[in-house]
Amino acid sequence: MAEERATPVWMDLLWLLFLAGLALLPPIHELHKQVILLVLGLFQLIEKPLIRDAGERRGPVLAVMVKLTLATVLLNHTRDVSPILSSYWPVFFVPVTTAAIYFGPVGTLLWTSITSAAYCSYLIPAMKDFELDWNKGGSQLLLRVLFFFFVGMTVNRFVVEYRLQVRRYQLLSQSLAETNRELRQAQDEARRAERLAALGQLSAGLAHEIRNPLGVIKGSAEILNQKLAGSDALAQELSGYIYTEVNRVSALVSRFLDFARPARLELHPEQMPPLLDACLKMAADLGASAKVRILREYAPGLPPAMIDRELCEQVFTNLILNACEAMGEQDGDLKIRINSSQAQPAAQVWVEIEDSGPGIAPDLREQIFNPFFTTKKTGVGLGLAIVSKIVDAHGGSVKVESSPGRGACFRVTLPAAVSVPARVEKMTV
Ligand SMILES: Nc1ncnc2c1ncn2[C@@H]1O[C@H](COP(=O)(O)OP(=O)(O)OP(=O)(O)O)[C@@H](O)[C@H]1O
Ligand SMILES: [Mg+2]
Repeated sequence: MAEERATPVWMDLLWLLFLAGLALLPPIHELHKQVILLVLGLFQLIEKPLIRDAGERRGPVLAVMVKLTLATVLLNHTRDVSPILSSYWPVFFVPVTTAAIYFGPVGTLLWTSITSAAYCSYLIPAMKDFELDWNKGGSQLLLRVLFFFFVGMTVNRFVVEYRLQVRRYQLLSQSLAETNRELRQAQDEARRAERLAALGQLSAGLAHEIRNPLGVIKGSAEILNQKLAGSDALAQELSGYIYTEVNRVSALVSRFLDFARPARLELHPEQMPPLLDACLKMAADLGASAKVRILREYAPGLPPAMIDRELCEQVFTNLILNACEAMGEQDGDLKIRINSSQAQPAAQVWVEIEDSGPGIAPDLREQIFNPFFTTKKTGVGLGLAIVSKIVDAHGGSVKVESSPGRGACFRVTLPAAVSVPARVEKMTV
């Protein structure tokens, strides 16, 4: 309610000038009148800090009451025959406009009624001494009271409109500040992504260059291993180390290149159930635990998905391998669900791979998709980074749900090929 009024100093000076003008008008030798005008002037100057100190609710009430009291007393000391006939009656506009500035429409009406009552209260002593001519005096009085309301409500309308405008600007500036913050964040992220992309390009180039000499070392180590078979045991052991370690580095470089190379998608409509079956077989060939029980829940009448088969095989093989690795050598259930949904703007096919392993801690759920994040002794930490890169390239999404001790469920959503006629699309991302 008690909003800060932006009153410049010159307005205060103008107000004092106006009161000085009143002081110089008759009755000049009435000391009470001059004192009241002085108090009114001083109060105007200290009004703002006083309201701030008195609080949002009490401050404005105090300000209006002080001004109303001063106006009422002033009328008594500027009387001609009776206070009701004082030509200083417009001084009541001071409490009325103050109320209009600080209160809402109802408060303004209330304070204007109180002001009118204070003014009309001088009618009681006047009626004892004079006879009131209702046609002349009565209507004039009513006119003045009506003017109090007119001025009060007009000022209040402007003030309410002004407050609304200020509120609108505040909200606008808040939303602008928020947009600015988001923009700066996006710029920071873009800069970071640019730096990472440059780093990725550099390391991909480096990995590519390393791969060729590695191939030569690998081949040579293999021949060396064969040549040394049956000879010196130490030499044979050492060449065995060279061979296995070179193999490991070579596999690492290949995986890294899978991740760093831009994916060139060759999109075809593909049925997901046979693709998942092929991935299960691939995972088994790659050493996925044989003890795992596989439960297939494939919905009937599934639409084909618009995907790059080879890349999606990498996605699901990685997820199946992770699930099997999570369940370790113990028994476990691996559930594969395939279904479709009519999401907007296009239909989707989703695949869920759920295991009964130890699950993923909530604070790791975002990190597991970062490249080189691994909790495994021999892991590289590129499996899920490759998964999310390939799925993103398809315009799909990968989400994980897990509660520690209750397994993990990865859901991959891919665009369905229902509305798209069977065709081949090529795109590079
Ligand atoms: N099904 C799962 N259950 C529990 N933890 C999982 C599961 N899948 C992934 N994780 C966690 O996420 C981490 C990252 O997985 P990601 O596949 O990216 O790398 P990795 O399996 O460790 O190594 P690799 O590059 O050989 O795949 C894993 O080390 C593991 O901690
Ligand atoms: Mg993995």
